[in-house]
Amino acid sequence: MSSATLRAALVALLAVATVVKSDQDIYVDDALSNGWQNWGWNTVINWAATDLAVGTSSISAVSDAYAAVSLKSPETIGSYAGLKFDIAADPSQLQLYFQSTADDSQSSAIPISAISAAINPTSFTTVIVDFNALPPNGAPLGAGTWDRINFQALGNGASYHLDNIQLLTSIVVTPEFLSAEPIANNYIAVTTKGAVNFTSVAVKLNNATIAVNGQATYVPPDTPSRSITYLKLAKNLAPGTLSVSAGSLSVSYILPAVQEGSVLTGTKTPISPLIYGVNWPPSASYIQQLGVTVSRWGGNAVTAYNPFGDFTNAAADWFYENRNADAGNANTWIGWIKGAGSQAMMTIPALDWVAKDSTSYSYPKTIYPDQQKFDPYNADAGNGLFPNGSYVQPTTDPNRAYVPWNTTAARTWLSGLTNKPEFLFIDNEIEIAHGTHQDMHPAPMSYDEELSRVVQYAKVAKDALPNAKVAAPSTCSWWFYWTSAVGYTDNAAHGNVDFLPWFLAQMKAASTTAGKRLLDYLDIHYYFQPDLSANDDAAKALRLRMTRSLWDPTYVDESWVGTNVQNHQPNGAAVWLIPRMKQLISANYPGTKLSISEWSSTADGDITGGLVTADVLGIFGRYGVDVATYWANPDAKGPVGLAYWLYRGSGTYFGNTGVQVNLATSNAANTYGVYAATEGGKLSIVIVNKDTKPLGFHLANVPTGSYFLRHFGGAAGVAKWQTNITLTTSQYIVVPAYTALFIKKT
Ligand SMILES: *[C@@H]1O[C@H](CO)[C@@H](O)[C@H](O)[C@H]1NC(C)=O
Ligand SMILES: *[C@@H]1O[C@H](CO)[C@@H](O)[C@H](O)[C@H]1NC(C)=O
Ligand SMILES: *[C@@H]1O[C@H](CO)[C@@H](O)[C@H](O)[C@H]1NC(C)=O
Ligand SMILES: *[C@@H]1O[C@H](CO)[C@@H](O)[C@H](O)[C@H]1NC(C)=O
Ligand SMILES: *[C@@H]1O[C@H](CO)[C@@H](O)[C@H](O)[C@H]1NC(C)=O
Repeated sequence: MSSATLRAALVALLAVATVVKSDQDIYVDDALSNGWQNWGWNTVINWAATDLAVGTSSISAVSDAYAAVSLKSPETIGSYAGLKFDIAADPSQLQLYFQSTADDSQSSAIPISAISAAINPTSFTTVIVDFNALPPNGAPLGAGTWDRINFQALGNGASYHLDNIQLLTSIVVTPEFLSAEPIANNYIAVTTKGAVNFTSVAVKLNNATIAVNGQATYVPPDTPSRSITYLKLAKNLAPGTLSVSAGSLSVSYILPAVQEGSVLTGTKTPISPLIYGVNWPPSASYIQQLGVTVSRWGGNAVTAYNPFGDFTNAAADWFYENRNADAGNANTWIGWIKGAGSQAMMTIPALDWVAKDSTSYSYPKTIYPDQQKFDPYNADAGNGLFPNGSYVQPTTDPNRAYVPWNTTAARTWLSGLTNKPEFLFIDNEIEIAHGTHQDMHPAPMSYDEELSRVVQYAKVAKDALPNAKVAAPSTCSWWFYWTSAVGYTDNAAHGNVDFLPWFLAQMKAASTTAGKRLLDYLDIHYYFQPDLSANDDAAKALRLRMTRSLWDPTYVDESWVGTNVQNHQPNGAAVWLIPRMKQLISANYPGTKLSISEWSSTADGDITGGLVTADVLGIFGRYGVDVATYWANPDAKGPVGLAYWLYRGSGTYFGNTGVQVNLATSNAANTYGVYAATEGGKLSIVIVNKDTKPLGFHLANVPTGSYFLRHFGGAAGVAKWQTNITLTTSQYIVVPAYTALFIKKT
């Protein structure tokens, strides 16, 4: 604001009407006001910048990676309705979050890009963040002793301007129809915000008005800012032009010709309940809300976990620094995970060192002054690389951050666990230890060394906890399924057999020698290889069709995998992941199960990532994956979390016995997936519409009657909720664009 006079008048007014709380200025021009302070870090700030300003001046800030402008209030701010500010920034380089000084808690981070699509680096955009509906998911800020507002740069650092920062006492939510979409047999799902008037809603199908017979409104507790109202139509939806008008919103849909399909409940295949897992669930309520069946203690830091002090080391992920283990003590973790109803997967370190304390690090500047990067929070801790990107020399002394670790230590630890994990993993991605853990294992891992480590630690695992299932080798990606970090000379030294088939055959032989099975699960990590970082329409469509790499032998991977075939496997340009792995198992070590303990949708915050997840969970069930855990713990209210909720939310589960779905249209897997299952005689169906237009199905052998319906996605962003519907014989099940729908017979 530029008018000093008006401000003076307001201040005068405030002085008299002290009981009425009013909007509070944090920054207008030149300096922070009302007792606010800057508690930011590693950021160069000009509080009176004139290069870009509304009024006389603005805040200009240049933050290093993960550094921030942190505005600290003299009192808590939770009773305000929201925050208003002007911002000029590259929205992809910055995020906003709230923090409490009293208990150090933090809100979830809000990407600046999710606040407004208009935000740009060259001019100011005025935005309001509603504390009752934080972007991107509409979740409330929630109760807390919030007193800090942090504008934080992401990994590349950021240069940005802020102006006219103000706390608002009220935000008028203009009643608005956000979307109105046909769904299921005879419903319109309307997403709204504010107090809308539904009397004006009119629905026409092929120019004939359809009466609305009933309506039910839900306010999802975790997104109270958006309500969803189901309008029950007097007649079924049908192919043709559907128009819906509601207030100022007027939308029309081409409902497509009916696609015939059928559900064959005679053809049954079991669906493993353990495919609905995640890494590091944050709480017991998360496990219950999303129906998480199995939880993994995984990732790069677990390699250095020292159970005799609960220390770990971040490895290449963060300047090789020791810290207290994020999840605390392993035994305690297993206890609460199992108490919440999930199975527990523990990882046994299998290199030669674990963290010695919570503070040491491997590459001090005092010893290696010439490094590429140093920790912005600890200027002495470097990343172990010369400025040109090669590893520093001489190699560091592992004793700097670590103490020795061996099978005796592992045996002592595992034997002492009072909470028993269902699964024991032999370390994590050790085939790339020379990169991730170059401070303790600089030499490239060979076939023989990896096998030897897995065999030794598997024996300890089986001795100490005979009921735990052993999983290995947790290979990071497609490239290393087939060769080692040593390179192709290593394949050549092993009869030119690719790594995983060789490993399986060797584990079979080692088990025979040991007189017991040493490997219960072949564990791999699977990350889709195409580069989708553009996240434009083409990248989204590719993301949605690349789930075919999990099962389809005719799908040549649309990445380097499809063009640079480095393996010696049949049909090597197709990933064809699940059937391929099952074939390798049956050829080399029959009876071994298949585990995928890390995978990712490639876009946790994007609706297409949620649809990929819903599709993948259906595929894992249909093609018989035995265990799978997502990397890492998707936001329960975001698109990926909602895919878990769709299949498993709050005690309503997709069936445990897969049944066949026949569709008249073949080759539709680029645009949709249809999965069906039964349990206790009740049919459940998931339909994932990956297309940008609605789908309409008639599915034979789907019993008529009452169904529970749940969905997420659609035109209003990531709207979601659930209701009860009735299916009749003449059903025409509509699934809106970019929506995943679940129905289950009640
Ligand atoms: C809702 O809209 C209808 C028709 O548009 C109008 O008659 C009615 O008064 C409105 N109701 C309210 C509560 O505003
Ligand atoms: C609906 O009405 C429009 C305009 O009156 C007309 O052009 C169109 O053909 C009608 N459509 C149908 C399916 O009757
Ligand atoms: C990188 O820099 C280091 C230290 O200056 C040097 O010893 C090394 O040869 C360089 N490596 C390459 C590939 O240039
Ligand atoms: C592990 O290290 C301890 C301590 O040095 C040693 O006593 C023990 O024999 C080692 N165990 C093995 C299997 O080498
Ligand atoms: C759906 O019906 C079931 C009973 O079959 C009931 O328990 C549940 O509350 C209903 N759900 C909704 C969202 O109406």
